[in-house]
Amino acid sequence: MLKVGVFGTGHLGKFHLNNWKEIGGIELAGFYDPDDNTAKEVIEKYQLPRFTDIDALLDVIDIADIVAPTNHHFSLCEQAIKKGKHVFVEKPLANTMTEAHDLVKLVKESNVKLQVGHVERFNPAFLATKNVSLNPMFIEVHRLAQFNPRGTEVSVILDLMIHDIDIILSVVKSDVKSISASGVGVMTETPDIANVRIEFNNGCVANLTSSRISMKKMRKMRLFQKDAYIGIDFLNKKTEVIKLKEPQDSNVFAFDIETPTGKKTIAMANPVVPEVNAIKQELEEFRNAILNNTKTPVSEIDGMMAMDVAHQILKKIGNNSLVHG
Ligand SMILES: NC(=O)c1ccc[n+]([C@@H]2O[C@H](COP(=O)([O-])OP(=O)(O)OC[C@H]3O[C@@H](n4cnc5c(N)ncnc54)[C@H](O)[C@@H]3O)[C@@H](O)[C@H]2O)c1
Repeated sequence: MLKVGVFGTGHLGKFHLNNWKEIGGIELAGFYDPDDNTAKEVIEKYQLPRFTDIDALLDVIDIADIVAPTNHHFSLCEQAIKKGKHVFVEKPLANTMTEAHDLVKLVKESNVKLQVGHVERFNPAFLATKNVSLNPMFIEVHRLAQFNPRGTEVSVILDLMIHDIDIILSVVKSDVKSISASGVGVMTETPDIANVRIEFNNGCVANLTSSRISMKKMRKMRLFQKDAYIGIDFLNKKTEVIKLKEPQDSNVFAFDIETPTGKKTIAMANPVVPEVNAIKQELEEFRNAILNNTKTPVSEIDGMMAMDVAHQILKKIGNNSLVHG
């Protein structure tokens, strides 16, 4: 049995508690949360011991699950790693690039596994693209949310856009060549809405829009490549693939079209979207990486790379902005 301690049992921490309870080979040992009201709720609902001392909880666990606000990620991760505990930390990995680099170094020098909670990698709509060879040259993303004070201790780039940055870096196997960005803080002092263009060395261009001040929700990514269009709807868990090819799948609608180079078949398919609970899946894969001594699916390096792009974006927005420098 691997013993887990959850650090931060607010909105997302409770989802983690629910999922850990359903994962085999895991025992919840306790939690740490400085908020008395939250702690009372958790004790009542989960009958889980509350620890008021971080070290005392670290001493009785194998895995530290860090679901506290981002500005606490670094110190909690550092304490856990120094005690030789495996770490699952919510996204973004840390608050500053210095912290991210320090964590990567600490993990390298230790014998622990670290995974970052970039949960969209486990979204069923993204998992449905598993059998599609992704080699996009152009990516268009819209991630729009209604305003919620939770998460506003960081900008919309580190709060929402970082999900898409991580997915894009996992798909585009090329280095970032240049970034241009514009954004504005409406409800907070940091950008609440932003548009970003990332150019990669292989010619791929990604155009991302993120907002946390929208009237309607949307989480869509569209990838365009030589032989296919792939649409991923993270919110409604739907995936669409349109290919210039013979239909191979039974779940396909196809029609012919005359082009200057002859007749082509356009095949439209909706790949099967697996019935997966993304949070449970990411935590299970983390457990597996510990048990099998393999690489975690979203490593500290992945977390640092996503943060690096996010911070470059914030710098560009700062340079462009007359109001919020
Ligand atoms: N992966 C995702 O899609 C996703 C979604 C939401 C939030 N998050 C991340 O999860 C983290 C928590 O977000 P949330 O929405 O649950 O916030 P929240 O405000 O609802 O909960 C945070 C909890 O942490 C507690 N806390 C404060 N300081 C602490 C400390 N030093 N140690 C332990 N606990 C502490 C608070 O009392 C609170 O109960 C953030 O890093 C956020 O970016 C990720």
